[in-house]
Amino acid sequence: MGRSRTGSGPAEDLLIELDREAGVALHRQIEASIRSGIRAGRLRQGASLPPTRTLATCLGVSRGVVVEAYQQLVAEGYLVSRSGGYTQVAAALPPPATLPAAAPAGPPARRVDFGYGRTDVSQFPRAAWLRSVRTVLTTAPNDRFVYLDGRGVPELHEALCDYLNRVRGTSAAPGDVVICNGYGQGVALLIQVLARHGARRIAVEDPSADDDVRVLARAAGLEVVGVPVGRDGIEVGELHGTDADALVLTPSHQWPTGGVLPASARAEVIRWARRRGAIVVEDDYDAEYRYDRAPVGALQGLAPDHVVYCGTASKTLAPGLRLGWLVPPPRLVGDLAEAKLLADRGSPVIDQLTFADFLARGEFDRHLRRMRPVYRRRRDALLSALRVHLPDLEPAGVAAGQHVVAWLPPDLDEAEVVTAAARHGLAINGVGPYRIGGPGPGGLIFGYGSLGERAVAEGVALLARAIGEVRRG
Ligand SMILES: Cc1ncc(COP(=O)(O)O)c(C=O)c1O
Repeated sequence: MGRSRTGSGPAEDLLIELDREAGVALHRQIEASIRSGIRAGRLRQGASLPPTRTLATCLGVSRGVVVEAYQQLVAEGYLVSRSGGYTQVAAALPPPATLPAAAPAGPPARRVDFGYGRTDVSQFPRAAWLRSVRTVLTTAPNDRFVYLDGRGVPELHEALCDYLNRVRGTSAAPGDVVICNGYGQGVALLIQVLARHGARRIAVEDPSADDDVRVLARAAGLEVVGVPVGRDGIEVGELHGTDADALVLTPSHQWPTGGVLPASARAEVIRWARRRGAIVVEDDYDAEYRYDRAPVGALQGLAPDHVVYCGTASKTLAPGLRLGWLVPPPRLVGDLAEAKLLADRGSPVIDQLTFADFLARGEFDRHLRRMRPVYRRRRDALLSALRVHLPDLEPAGVAAGQHVVAWLPPDLDEAEVVTAAARHGLAINGVGPYRIGGPGPGGLIFGYGSLGERAVAEGVALLARAIGEVRRG
């Protein structure tokens, strides 16, 4: 069998084997090869195919042979012709010629997902971001495209300080900012550095996220202790017994319970940190979305020597950007920059410069102004659906962010409700799995960031049905 490999350009990505002795027309062989490539996933949906002339040259056939193959596959729905004369793999596969036997009945397809951490990425400001990418590619000097200092690009340090000091009340100097790949990497670097500086025990909120700090700290040999969270964030009085060297905190919107740490408790946290020489890691993950009350300034502004401010673009723009920033006390900056270089030699420069330009043009502020009412409407839709369908659930922490916790009445078991909800096609998390020190009141976490108002209302109606079922036993 003669194997024709395409020559240059995009045709190189398309391997087609032609057998000139097979007695099968060449256009049929090309069709079959592309069809099976699409079915097997080797040619992904939306992928561009080589121009017919290029592919014909590479396969040593006339262009008409390739045109015929492409036309047949367009007619079958495998390919689409685009204006501009190029051909792509269709976005959805046509059904196979013979349908498989009906699948056995399983759990219902998921209809609504209240999973947390889903920013509405369909609202990503693509046009404005593109303007910034263009500006950067047109104007950035060559010396920005080399290996840089582990802290990142100076333009972003400047732009972030302007933004954070203006909007979050931080006290940040450009020389102290470290850019990282989201909060996840920032906190990983911090834990390494704190362990190297002799930290042995790290305190976290109970409940709190269970997927980064706890895992990373234990892996670094640190003991993790939980500080109970009440209605307004951690019970600061409990902090004193922890003997912790560091405390990870979400003071402006506790995750997941939504409390805002009051001024007196903030002052107490700072006093504790100063007395112990401890570090407070301030995870300011969703401070930008605040609906019912004036924003609360960052803790870092009160004690820049004891607080590491951590910010992220994951909630405001998109988690896929992997853009985050740390503002540590000056004594930790060098070690963090070194750890960042060791981890990955620095975050992608073009993204950093783009974000710097985006901030400096005021596009970030504009995007937040546009998104606040969008999330607020979703939050309002959630609260009114809860009032109508489930008035005995008690929403809390509703003033900010992209999620709400609602506490369950004592007759309802959290795990049972979560399981019953799944049976009704609703994905939702309980608070229980995020607890450290044992059971507490049952609660549900409603992430509404990426759900439209109708989906929010449908989700609550599904939950009401599930709860009705639980109650009927
Ligand atoms: C409590 C908390 N902080 C921060 C983040 C953001 O993490 P990253 O910046 O790594 O996307 C998340 C993500 O869901 C989170 O739950």
